[in-house]
Amino acid sequence: MTTSTLMQLKQKGEKIAALTAYDASFAKMFDEQLIDVILIGDSLGMVLKGHDDTLSVSVDDITYHTACVRNGVNRAFVVADMPFMSYATPEQAYNNAAKVMASGASMVKVEGGEWLAQTVTGLVERGIPVCGHLGLTPQSVHVFGGFKVQGRENEQAQKMVAAAIKLETAGIQLLVLECIPSSVAKLICETLKIPVIGIGAGVSTDGQILVMHDMFGISANYMPKFSKNYLVENTDMRSAVTAYIDDVKATRFPAPEHSFE
Ligand code: KIV
Ligand code: NA
Repeated sequence: MTTSTLMQLKQKGEKIAALTAYDASFAKMFDEQLIDVILIGDSLGMVLKGHDDTLSVSVDDITYHTACVRNGVNRAFVVADMPFMSYATPEQAYNNAAKVMASGASMVKVEGGEWLAQTVTGLVERGIPVCGHLGLTPQSVHVFGGFKVQGRENEQAQKMVAAAIKLETAGIQLLVLECIPSSVAKLICETLKIPVIGIGAGVSTDGQILVMHDMFGISANYMPKFSKNYLVENTDMRSAVTAYIDDVKATRFPAPEHSFE
């Protein structure tokens, strides 16, 4: 999988199935079940370290886990998160993204809107593909005052659409939308040419992503409303992953109960 094949999936109307992974064994299994995208998420701060947020994750944490994942992957496209404050300035973003790419990622993901446009362009010009992330961006949880759905008010939603367009113009080749009303996500997907992957963003996005621990129902803290435990209906992890991928491709997941309006 590459940025080109991901774009082709959007053009063909085939949904993109994505999961997080943090080690070689799970990454290899997901890859064998034909997952399209694997994200080394800074969610590792929560599901691996047991923290209440993602802020403690370091560049070293991400490069360690990205190197592990890379060793298990043959086919999937590998994206890694840039940690909290590792891209506060363009210079910091270049230095830290270089480390993340060298550890085995094929793209880096950054959280934020219009303020990131210059950083995105600079990264892409230097050879680093970028994934955007809008909506409930967990690195800003303390600004939001908790893990809350974003973009419910009209003004906020319009700002998000404008940010998505600005980021696409700046050069992002993939976008994650987290915890926003399904109608706002649908509008952003229809507006952008690049593929848009949702989590808690309804069924109309070009693909879906889940934190692997949520998909297996074993998260250290709590289970978000937008997630689904695929081990309830499946007796082993491999078939749970296949069921998740099949559900995403057939638009059976997310159901309305996993979405916000
Ligand atoms: O860190 C993460 O796992 C993520 C996904 C939930 C998109 O950013
Ligand atoms: Na993340």
